[in-house]
Amino acid sequence: MANIGTDISLAKKLLEQGKLVGIPTETVYGLAANALDAEAVTQIFVVKERPKFDPLIVHIASVDQAEKYVKALPEKAVELARHFWPGPLTLVLPKRSNIPDIVTSGLDTVGIRCPDHKLTRQLLTILPFPLAAPSANPFGYVSPTTAAHVNHQLGEKIPYILDGGPCRIGLESTIIGFENNTPTLYRRGGISEEQIVSLIGSVSSRLQSSNPIAPGQLDSHYAPKRKFYLGDIELLKKDFSSEKTGILRFMSTNKTKDKHELILSPSGNLEEAASNLFASLRKLDQMDVDVIIAERVPDLGIGKAINDRLQRAATRN
Ligand code: TXA
Ligand code: MG
Repeated sequence: MANIGTDISLAKKLLEQGKLVGIPTETVYGLAANALDAEAVTQIFVVKERPKFDPLIVHIASVDQAEKYVKALPEKAVELARHFWPGPLTLVLPKRSNIPDIVTSGLDTVGIRCPDHKLTRQLLTILPFPLAAPSANPFGYVSPTTAAHVNHQLGEKIPYILDGGPCRIGLESTIIGFENNTPTLYRRGGISEEQIVSLIGSVSSRLQSSNPIAPGQLDSHYAPKRKFYLGDIELLKKDFSSEKTGILRFMSTNKTKDKHELILSPSGNLEEAASNLFASLRKLDQMDVDVIIAERVPDLGIGKAINDRLQRAATRN
């Protein structure tokens, strides 16, 4: 298993040697390497068993650093960065040649973000390079929101995990690109479309496609190992024996809780539900159940991103 701690000097030393380190962010934990070192970045793909066509996000310490790695910052990108960074927003922009092709899967754009987590910002500030980091989970599985989640699945393969506690937001960053200078939503995440629109006006979207440019867009992703069905819980319950069914509800009801039932937010708060989503999916996946059934949450604000993850987690027939 990996060592877990809060030693940013050790994290720095390992990263300088081309090794991988688990890092906390406000969204989910990342599996980080020196973004300017193609060999170190290659290890990320190996450890995650991630296909090489899936580009990585580059993490920087502050807005000012973006210009070192991207060629052009459209005005609306600057506005977004100034307003939401540090925070759960990734901007996809034309890359400079110092970013190795392996980071961007050969694309001429790079996803870049400034994460909002004290430890990781301290680390980024003392490092002489930015960090390429996907979510620290095996490809296709639920993203990690604690150091223990990372250790459980990748601990054998990496030397160190920086422990920054449970992730505050709990869903990955929102990704915005600028195709022909038009702001385009690629992935829903920690910042809602409503928040984006209220700052820069309307955005187009390219969320779903059978030929995705962002594998976070793959129809099936973020998936637990158990069969997972999404719909009306009372109706779904009729299809499965109660003994072996895990249930994921949005909020408390006046019904008695089932044996394997988790509630995302007892009071029905969407931010709280987001922060509990991935940990709850992992917990249910580890229970002695045959299937997991879940319901959608209200489709507004960050609720849209929660529903997106639930939908992609769902079993396809
Ligand atoms: O919140 C997050 O974004 C977390 C934390 C660790 O920062 N990271 C994360 O990384 O979710 P990952 O690799 O699991 O998802 C990154 C997504 C991928 O779906 C990838 O395809 C997309 O970002 N992406 C990266 N660069 C891109 C680019 N140049 N064009 C389009 N999509 C890009
Ligand atoms: Mg991921």
